[in-house]
Amino acid sequence: MSATTLPNATLLDAYLAMTPGSARLSDRAQSLLPSGLAHDSRQFDPYPIYVDHALGPVKWDVDGNKYVDYFGGHGALILGHNHPTVMKAVHAALEKGTHFGACHEMELRWAELITRMVPSAERVRFTGSGTEATLMALRLARAQTGRSKLVRFRGHFHGWHDHMTSGHTSHFDGTPTSGVLAGISDNVLLCDPNDVEGITRIFNDHKDIAAVILEPTGGNFGKMPILPSFLHVLRDLTKQAGTLLIFDEVVTGFRVSRGGAQQEFGVTPDITTLAKIAAGGLPGGAVAARKDVLDWLDFKVTKASGQERVYHPGTFNANPVTAAAAVATLEIIESTDICDRANAFGAEVRQKMNDVLVDEGVKWSVHGSFSGMHIYTNPEGADIDPHNFQAEHFIQKMIDKPRGVGVTGKVRMGMLINGVDMNSGPSGTISASHGPEEMATTVEAFRTTIRALKREGAIG
Ligand SMILES: Cc1ncc(COP(=O)(O)O)c(C=O)c1O
Repeated sequence: MSATTLPNATLLDAYLAMTPGSARLSDRAQSLLPSGLAHDSRQFDPYPIYVDHALGPVKWDVDGNKYVDYFGGHGALILGHNHPTVMKAVHAALEKGTHFGACHEMELRWAELITRMVPSAERVRFTGSGTEATLMALRLARAQTGRSKLVRFRGHFHGWHDHMTSGHTSHFDGTPTSGVLAGISDNVLLCDPNDVEGITRIFNDHKDIAAVILEPTGGNFGKMPILPSFLHVLRDLTKQAGTLLIFDEVVTGFRVSRGGAQQEFGVTPDITTLAKIAAGGLPGGAVAARKDVLDWLDFKVTKASGQERVYHPGTFNANPVTAAAAVATLEIIESTDICDRANAFGAEVRQKMNDVLVDEGVKWSVHGSFSGMHIYTNPEGADIDPHNFQAEHFIQKMIDKPRGVGVTGKVRMGMLINGVDMNSGPSGTISASHGPEEMATTVEAFRTTIRALKREGAIG
C-alpha cells in the first residue's frame, strides 16, 4: 500500500493503514522499553516501523512493506545488507565459535588492514563500540598530555559517554546534561564549527587542552559541514599547543575514501576513532593512532618508562565474528571502488532530489557530501537555491531546530509511505549497493511526498 493508492488519505492515515503490524509491536514495546525503543534516534511519531529482514539496499517491515534503506545500519553498511562475501565470512566464523576469550589471527588481519588503509594508524586497539572508541581516545590524550580539557564542536556527535553529551542536540552552553557531573562538563570546551577566531581564543585562554575531537566532514556526517581549511587550522593549532587532534571517523572511516576523511583532505590526526564500517557492520570499534599514543596501553613500554599504564579491558574487543565481518568488508573496500560508487550515488541522488525541489518550486535543499544526504526544510524561509545551498551558513539554524519534529517528521513519513526509510534528520547514508532502481524509487518518493505535503498545507 502507498500514498499513491490512497490519493485522498493524509500521510498519517496512509502510514497507519500500511503498518498495523508495527503498531502492534510498538504497543507491546511500551511496557518493556522506555519509549518502546532501543536507540534514541529510532524515535518516530506515532510509532516506528518494525523491520523483519533486509537485503542489499532494501529492507522489509513486518507488514511486508519494502523500503529503500538509507538508515544503512546507522551508517555501518557501505556494502548494503547481507553482502554475500561478508555473510560467508560471518557464517564461517560462527562455526568456529563466537568468543574465544583469547587472541586470534583474525584480529591481526583486521589491524593490518586498518594500519594499511588509515594514514594515522600505526597501532590499533579494538573496542566494543564507537562510544568506547571516543572514550578511549580521550583517555589516551589525557594520559599523553597530562592535561584535562577536551574541545568539541557544537552539533558534532561522538557517542553517548559523559564527555560527549552537552552541545550535541542540547546544552549548547556546555552545562551538563541529565545524569552527567558538572565536574565532567567543566572540562569540555564547546566551539562553533569553522569558527577560526573562536578556536584560536580557546587555545589562547586555555593551556590545559588535552584533545580536540571532531567529525571531520562536519556534524552528523556533513549535515553541518566542516570546511577543509578548518581541518588545517585545527591541525596547526593543536600541533603548536601540544594538543592531540582526534578525528572521529566512526562514520567517515572507510566511507569517504578507503583511508577516510583524513586521506581525502590530507590532514593526519594524532588519533582516529573507528566503528560501524570498520567493524564490518557488526558491533565493535577501534582506536587507531601513532605508536607513541597507543603505547600507553602497552605493558612493556609503560613498565620501561615507569608510567602508569592506561587501563582497558572489554569483553567484546576484537570479537572473532566481528573481526571476520570487518576483514571481509575492509578487503572489499581496499580492492574495489566501493567508496567511489557510494559517493557517486550520493551526488546523483542529491542532484535529482534538488531537481524535484526546483520543479515543485520549494525552497529547500538536499545537501551533503560523499555518501550522505540531508534534507534542509528551511524553517526560516530563506531564499534558497536548492542546487547551490551552502549548508555551512545554516549550521546555527540546524543546531537550534530539534530533529524529527514538524515538517521533517512529515517528510520522513511521506518517504516511508512511498518506500524509502531515512533517519530523523531527515538524512540518509548511502551504500554501494544502491543502484538505478533505488535512485528512481527515491526521487519518485520525494516528489510524491512534496506534493502530499503541499496538499496538507505543510509546505506553502
Ligand atoms: C561520529 C560518531 N561517533 C561516535 C558514534 C558512536 O558510535 P556507537 O554508536 O558505536 O557507540 C557514532 C554513532 O553514530 C557516530 O556517528
